[in-house]
Amino acid sequence: MSNSHDSIRAVLWQDDKLLLLDQRLLPQQEVWLEYTDSKAVAEAIHQMVVRGAPAIGITAAYGVVLALRQQLQQGRGDWYARLQPDLKILGEARPTAVNLLWALERMGNRLQSLSPDEADPLGLMLAEARAIHDEDIAANRRMGELGAALISESGCAVLTHCNTGSLATGGYGTALGVIRSAYAEGRISRVFADETRPWLQGARLTAWELVKDQIPVTLLADGAGAALMQQGQVKWLIVGSDRITANGDVANKIGTYHAAIAAKYHGVKVMVVAPTSTVDMSLADGGLIPIEQRSPVEILSLGGQRVAAEGAEAWNPAFDVTPAELVDAIVTERGVVRNPTTEKMREMMNNQ
Ligand code: MRU
Repeated sequence: MSNSHDSIRAVLWQDDKLLLLDQRLLPQQEVWLEYTDSKAVAEAIHQMVVRGAPAIGITAAYGVVLALRQQLQQGRGDWYARLQPDLKILGEARPTAVNLLWALERMGNRLQSLSPDEADPLGLMLAEARAIHDEDIAANRRMGELGAALISESGCAVLTHCNTGSLATGGYGTALGVIRSAYAEGRISRVFADETRPWLQGARLTAWELVKDQIPVTLLADGAGAALMQQGQVKWLIVGSDRITANGDVANKIGTYHAAIAAKYHGVKVMVVAPTSTVDMSLADGGLIPIEQRSPVEILSLGGQRVAAEGAEAWNPAFDVTPAELVDAIVTERGVVRNPTTEKMREMMNNQ
């Protein structure tokens, strides 16, 4: 890892096993879990041992390798057909991040291309999963350069939401990748991070990553972002995405929409950083994105302790959709789309 502000990886393939850093326990405990069973991988995605759109896709790709290894014990050939039930279980682990379906489709296509008498199907599928992983890191580095170049200020502060770093990707990060690059170049001097209720990705994960990689970070309650912007303390809101539709609407962690509205009002620019594996050109707009609803318990309690009044109910969508008109720039590895429209998104997707 060449960049001094990039020391963390959370998804590893080692000794024929998938290793995941358990993100439910960070930052108090750094525990690695081992996986050899694809159904357990689907459960790990569902339970958010691993989370963040690109990391979910990469994990699922390794899950397909494990599924194939399990199937090989029962016979050869018909690879794609025999793996359908496993692909389905992996695909249903979480609904919003399209990277999951993108990775499964790519692994499925590779499976279909294998001849029935292929000598080393497992080796070829592992190579495909590793390629997905490596390409994600390369995309993040490219987006880091492109996004940092948009920040013309020197030594400014920015606001981010959720966790979009090494933990959420193959490594380096999307929005946090831009922040890493821009910090290394002196364009950013401080990161304000929303704590990101209810799962606290900001307080637990983003703060952990930034402290570890020596980038100054200040946490704030989610509701404090507008006041921060009103005081002129930040120049950019920089976030990732779980799915971007053809017109440039952006699904991301709940609270992103809220922050983008406040940014627009206060003249703070909004940058969305996501690889093209997050872009879903099959959906015309964000109203069509399936939004994950999570357990009310996440809202009603904190750290396993009930905090809400007994009898209260809770609404807990995990994501919201920020309309394209609130977004100043979408940064992908294929280029930057300013003031996104369907036409500009199509043009960017056609770049190679
Ligand atoms: O529920 P999570 O933690 O999986 O949500 C993650 C996010 O919303 C991230 O901002 C998004 O996946 C982009 S990360 C590269």
